[in-house]
Amino acid sequence: MGSWQVAIRKDQLVENEGRSIRIAGHRIAVFLVEGTIYAIEDSCPHAGAALSRGYIENGTVSCPLHYWRFRLSDGAWADNPTLSIGCYATRIVDDLVQVEIPDDPPLTEPRQ
Ligand code: FES
Repeated sequence: MGSWQVAIRKDQLVENEGRSIRIAGHRIAVFLVEGTIYAIEDSCPHAGAALSRGYIENGTVSCPLHYWRFRLSDGAWADNPTLSIGCYATRIVDDLVQVEIPDDPPLTEPRQ
């Protein structure tokens, strides 16, 4: 269980584009895709590129450097779902996007 933190105003999000947010040491990529808001770690485990600058397709974001793809819904690496990056719960309160920040420190390595 974590704490809910305001990340961005909902009207600052653009469909199929990412926004990079920093909260409590977490680099978070926030996306609006088909009306749903997603938040995943904003650092590709391959070489650290910002996934917020990636390309959205079929529920995934492709890293802008070497195109590793991560599922927006859970942060899993689409080509090897046993590995994943951080994924954050989101909610909207009064037109503000909130992200649930875990009590644990940010991830720096892919999880297995
Ligand atoms: S830095 Fe993301 S795939 Fe290489």
